[in-house]
Amino acid sequence: MKPALVLAVALALAIALLPVSSAQQSERKLLVGFSQCNNAEPWRQAMNAAARAEAAKHPEIELVFADAAQDNAKQVADVENFLAQRVDLLIISPNEAKPLTKIVRKAFERGTPVVVVDRAVEGEAFTCFLGADNLEIGRAAGEWIAATLGGKGKIVELKGLMGSTPAQERSRGFREAVAKHAGLEIVHEAEAKWLRDEARTQFEHALAAQPRIDLVYAHNDPMAVGAYLAAKAAGRERDMKFVGIDALPGADGGAQAVLDGKLAATFLYPNCGKEAVEIAARILKGEKVEKRIRLKTATVTKENASEFARAR
Ligand code: FRU
Repeated sequence: MKPALVLAVALALAIALLPVSSAQQSERKLLVGFSQCNNAEPWRQAMNAAARAEAAKHPEIELVFADAAQDNAKQVADVENFLAQRVDLLIISPNEAKPLTKIVRKAFERGTPVVVVDRAVEGEAFTCFLGADNLEIGRAAGEWIAATLGGKGKIVELKGLMGSTPAQERSRGFREAVAKHAGLEIVHEAEAKWLRDEARTQFEHALAAQPRIDLVYAHNDPMAVGAYLAAKAAGRERDMKFVGIDALPGADGGAQAVLDGKLAATFLYPNCGKEAVEIAARILKGEKVEKRIRLKTATVTKENASEFARAR
């Protein structure tokens, strides 16, 4: 063999034996598409951050997000786009159940594993549903409210987006508990779509219509705080109690709002971000996971709020 040829062969061998570059490695990563319904809400930002932190522990996974900004049609398009990119797994928190059911079924039936988090779709065409039990949370809130009001009082219910399952279940559980007390009356209800500013506007209408309100039950903390702000602007915040759901940690979270005396209580709604990625990683390894995984809730009042206000 000519020396030049020997050199060329040696070089080719050396290149073949080189460790794979990071670019090559990332080509081999498993792509997980996370279709989020609305990044603008603080609870979802916490969920995304938890998912990202967990994904960083799994070098085999590349996690990419799409934000539907509370628009069902945009979320369908986001999932279509993930399918066109041939994601290895889809995580989705659907904005509303019915409009997202078909596209989730399409993904699942074409063989893409689907992890549905926090808000459900209709039917059973998904790999795993992960979330806390909103019916149980609604009941716990209703029972806590009944006990706090001594079984008597006028309540306003501020609802989340009623096409989403947590809003439906938080309302149903609450109403079941309240119906057991003849002295409790729901004097006003409004759909504030999970949003603080919308709740503030809606609650201004409630204040104008109701000379007496004893308690506001909102399906999440941002809406409870929105109602509190409207009551404060009207000089009536001390006449009533405010109850929410989420108990997000941090300075702007619901747990801190309890410590500040704005909310009387909130109920923990774990954000599922870490668990969603953990489950995705298990599915991608070929493990079989349970069809429904339930995360725990907790009642948060001024007695234990400091524990929940700390960042976890
Ligand atoms: C955020 C949020 C939470 C609520 C959950 C219900 O988008 O509104 O505040 O607990 O969604 O799905």
